[in-house]
Amino acid sequence: MNYDIKDINLAPGGKRRIEWANNDMPVLSQIRARFEKEKPLKGMKMSACLHVTAETANLVRTLQAGGADIVLCASNPLSTQDDVSASLVKDYGISVFAIKGEDNKTYYKHITSALDHKPTVTMDDGADLVSAIHKERKDLIPQLCGSMEETTTGVIRLKAMEKDGSLKIPVIAVNNADTKHLFDNRYGTGQSTIDGIIRATSLLLAGRTVVVAGYGWCGKGFAMRAKGMGAHVVVTEINPIRSLEAAMDGFMVMPMLEAARVGDVFCTLTGNLHVIRKEHFEIMKNGAIVCNSGHFNVELDIGALEALSTSVNKDVRNGVDQYMLRNNKSIYLLGEGRLINLAAAEGHPACVMDMSFATQALATEYAVKNKGKLVPKVYDVPKEIDQWVANLKLKSMGISIDTLTKEQEKYLASWEEGT
Ligand code: ADE
Repeated sequence: MNYDIKDINLAPGGKRRIEWANNDMPVLSQIRARFEKEKPLKGMKMSACLHVTAETANLVRTLQAGGADIVLCASNPLSTQDDVSASLVKDYGISVFAIKGEDNKTYYKHITSALDHKPTVTMDDGADLVSAIHKERKDLIPQLCGSMEETTTGVIRLKAMEKDGSLKIPVIAVNNADTKHLFDNRYGTGQSTIDGIIRATSLLLAGRTVVVAGYGWCGKGFAMRAKGMGAHVVVTEINPIRSLEAAMDGFMVMPMLEAARVGDVFCTLTGNLHVIRKEHFEIMKNGAIVCNSGHFNVELDIGALEALSTSVNKDVRNGVDQYMLRNNKSIYLLGEGRLINLAAAEGHPACVMDMSFATQALATEYAVKNKGKLVPKVYDVPKEIDQWVANLKLKSMGISIDTLTKEQEKYLASWEEGT
């Protein structure tokens, strides 16, 4: 078996963490049990480019149980859990190409290795596989029945490809399912971003001013949790509706140029480029902490930070670099500007990844079942999948809900009755 991981001897610890995560993934476990019997992915060769975590391991096990011959590579150079990679190789017989801290060259070499598997279906977190296929491995396109996309940034890239006519395969925007973004992006990112900042810095958030750049579902979740920790929360946005939401949710809203002067901790969650840049770094307080929880490490203009600095003290704590600025202040950069929740912590907890990855597994089954019927465009996850996952998650949480009475059904279907 072909693989490239840090150390196979880390497998026992990885296996324990995979099993621990599995305990909090009841919906995915139920799908795995059905997949084991029905083998809906039999004959499929699958390449997945995901954060290599204990939760992902349970997704990959599920796809394997469904009959897929699957290989896995990292979707970020800093998010890999090396013990999990080791266990996937040793205990589950899955080829993994991922090493935490790999350089960009190795990162792309690993993507190439995953594509050398000659997949018939792919899964992405950030669209790097689909992008590489369209740029360098067009030979794979005819045999691909589709690809799943996990994250907002990936969906943005894929929609741009669809718009300019360059998308040549069907993709399913798993991120856009309600059972994904309303929970994973909001409660997952909310908690895991706080977790990453605290693990990196051991900072007390109470009384501090936390600046949240972006008020999409991830920004909303993080702002809500930072407030819960006692921070004064400032939101920066470019969208007027979201800005209003933030204001009426009780947050201060202002441009980054104003926020830069008052913030103690800054976190970007926008999916956009250079949200914090030269003019912002220049006016930050001495000792300001900056980090990113968006998919790519482009949200902070690290080049500008370097250009403003006379020197950098690497790893003043694990994953914390101190930039010494010409204006005699210093700024601390966490996790090299890569997503802090996975670079410094363990990503979203299993309970919420259960829903995202149950939806991923079912979307994959759907793409395979509809092989040849889907055209090259960005599809939403079918509503029935969303409903099924939500119902099962509720059940696993011991929550039952009301159903419509016959009278109510009739009322909702009619238009005659008014006051
Ligand atoms: N993205 C955010 N958290 C994650 C996790 N725990 N596993 C995989 N992908 C993630």
